Amino acid sequence: MATYSIKINNETRQVDVDPDTPLLWVLRDNLNLVGTKYGCGIAQCGACTVHMNGDPIRSCSVPISRIDGASITTIEGLSENTSHPLQKAWQEHDVPQCGYCQAGQIMSAAALLKSNASPSDEEIDKAMHGNICRCASYTKIKAAIKSASK
Ligand code: FES
Ligand code: FES
Repeated sequence: MATYSIKINNETRQVDVDPDTPLLWVLRDNLNLVGTKYGCGIAQCGACTVHMNGDPIRSCSVPISRIDGASITTIEGLSENTSHPLQKAWQEHDVPQCGYCQAGQIMSAAALLKSNASPSDEEIDKAMHGNICRCASYTKIKAAIKSASK
């Protein structure tokens, strides 16, 4: 076990965990930030996507020991009162079906729009390629991203 001080959603938190504990489990089990989901555990589905220094990462595959000094944003910290343009667009387009993948989808989309405010269809496809939705809500996801980018 070791003590790590990490910045999560603009708040510094301390956790006592094994160095190889994936960030996903620190978020969910130690910090009760359960909006970030476990899907595959091997960086293949995107359900666990959060931002590290603004970039999307698969939190299931990043050990806490690699987070040192980084700023992490989860779906809970994306906005206050779900006011991010993507969260509003998600509601307008009624995107979620079962909802399980959606936090990861939104976090990937948010990283895209931060670096490219008006992405093309191809750029959206490329950025969202690794986020799997078992309910196949891809058409609505894309429509919501385009809507939020306007
Ligand atoms: S749970 Fe992390 S990518 Fe699937
Ligand atoms: S909404 Fe069900 S997995 Fe995406």
